Amino acid sequence: MNIVSTKGRDGSAQPARPGQLTVSHLEKAFVSRQETVQVIKDVSFTIEPGQFFTLLGPSGCGKSTTLRCIAGLERADRGHIAVGGRVLADSETGAFVAASERDFGMVFQSYAIWPHMTVAQNVAFPLHANRRRHKLSRKEIAARVEEALAMVRLDQYGGRIATKLSGGQQQRLALARALITRPELLLLDEPLSNLDAGLRDHMRSELRAMQLRTGVTTLYVTHDQAEAFSMSDVIAVMDSGTLIQQGAPREIYSRPATTFVATFVGRTNLLSVTRPPAQTTGVVSVETNIGPVLVNAESNRPIATGDSIVIRPEDLQITVEAPPAGRGNVFAGRVRRPVFLGENVELEIEVRGEVLMSRQHPRFVFAAGDEVHVELPVDRCVVVSGAAAGVGSHIHAPGEPAGPDKNAAV
Ligand SMILES: Nc1ncnc2c1ncn2[C@@H]1O[C@H](COP(=O)(O)OP(=O)(O)OP(=O)(O)O)[C@@H](O)[C@H]1O
Ligand SMILES: [Mg+2]
Repeated sequence: MNIVSTKGRDGSAQPARPGQLTVSHLEKAFVSRQETVQVIKDVSFTIEPGQFFTLLGPSGCGKSTTLRCIAGLERADRGHIAVGGRVLADSETGAFVAASERDFGMVFQSYAIWPHMTVAQNVAFPLHANRRRHKLSRKEIAARVEEALAMVRLDQYGGRIATKLSGGQQQRLALARALITRPELLLLDEPLSNLDAGLRDHMRSELRAMQLRTGVTTLYVTHDQAEAFSMSDVIAVMDSGTLIQQGAPREIYSRPATTFVATFVGRTNLLSVTRPPAQTTGVVSVETNIGPVLVNAESNRPIATGDSIVIRPEDLQITVEAPPAGRGNVFAGRVRRPVFLGENVELEIEVRGEVLMSRQHPRFVFAAGDEVHVELPVDRCVVVSGAAAGVGSHIHAPGEPAGPDKNAAV
C-alpha cells in the first residue's frame, strides 16, 4: 500500500483507515442508441470499517452500476474511489486498479457456483486462481477452506458436489467463496433475490450474523426495504443516479428528507403545505389541505409552500372520545374502511375531504361510518421537501375527482 491518504467529499486529504471505503463525486454515463444517459450523478459516500452499508433504491436507479464501479467491473467517467487509503480509481490522475487486483469479496444475484466442483473446491477457487498473489501452500488453502465453510455453517458439506445443495446452502457457499481471501470489502448485489420468501428471511439474519462475526466492511445493494432495514448500520437511499439521504434505518424511516424517501420506505400520509408558517423556530402552525397543522420547525431549511408533512399510519392516534382540551393537531374524522389484518387494523379515515391511512392495534374495533378524533402528534409530523402530488398512489374521498391537489394519503 503506497498511498496512505484518501479524498474526503470536499476533496481534502484525510487519514485512511483499514477497511474504510470512500467514494467521491462518482459519475457514469452510458450511451445507448446515440443517446447519453447519465446513470450516476455525483455520488459520494464513506463506509466506515466494519459497517454494513446498504444502497437502497428502485430498479434502474444506478445501484449496481455504483457497485460495479467499486468492484472495478465498470470504469467511472469521473470520481475517486479508495479503500483503506489505497486508490482504486481516480479520474484526475487516471489511476485505475483492475477488478482482479482489488481483492474484494463479491456475490451477485446469480451467484454462479461451479457445478462440476465440490463445495470445498468452489470455495478454494479464488485462492487457486490467484495463487501467485496469495502465496499459500495447499495445506494453508485447506485450512482457509475449512474456516470459510465453518463461517457459513457448511463445514459438514465440503465433499459434496455443489449442485446438490439447497438454494440457501448454495447462497452460503457463494458467501464463503467471497470471504475466503479475507477481503477488506464485501460487495453484495441483491444476493438473496433468487431465494423463496422464507429462506430470504432466514438468510438475512444469517448474513448479518456472519458479517458481524467477520467484521468485514460490507456494501449491500437492494431494492427491498425489509432487507435494508433488517441488516444495515447505514442505509443510503438512491433515486435516478443520486444519493438522496443516508442514515441509520430508524432515522431514514422516521425522519425522511424528501417525499421520495418517505414513500419508498414504507406507507405514509402526505399533507401538502399550502402556506408556510409565520415563524421559523419552535412549534409552528402550517396551513395544509386539511387545515392548520402544528409541526416542529427544526429543519435548517425554511418550510415552504410545496413541501409536505409526512405522518406514518401507525403514528395517528384514533379515539372515539375527544382527547383532553389543549392537545394540538386533533381533527374530526370518519372511518371509511376498517380492514382487520390480524396483527393490526388498517383504517382509512376521512378528514376534511382527504383520506388518511391509519394502522392501529387489533384490539381496537372500528366500523365504517364511526365518527372519531384523529390526533397527529406534533413530534411525529415531519416536514419534507417535495410535493405530495405525483408521489405514490393517492386515495380520494368518495365522489371527489382525482386531481393533483387531492393527495392527502398514500
Ligand atoms: N452497460 C450498460 N449500457 C447501457 N445502459 C446501462 C448499462 N448498464 C446499466 N445501464 C442503465 O443504467 C441504469 C442503471 O442501471 P443499474 O443496473 O445500475 O440499476 P439498478 O439500480 O441496479 O437496478 P435494479 O434494481 O433493477 O438492479 C439503467 O437505466 C440501466 O438500463
Ligand atoms: Mg441492480
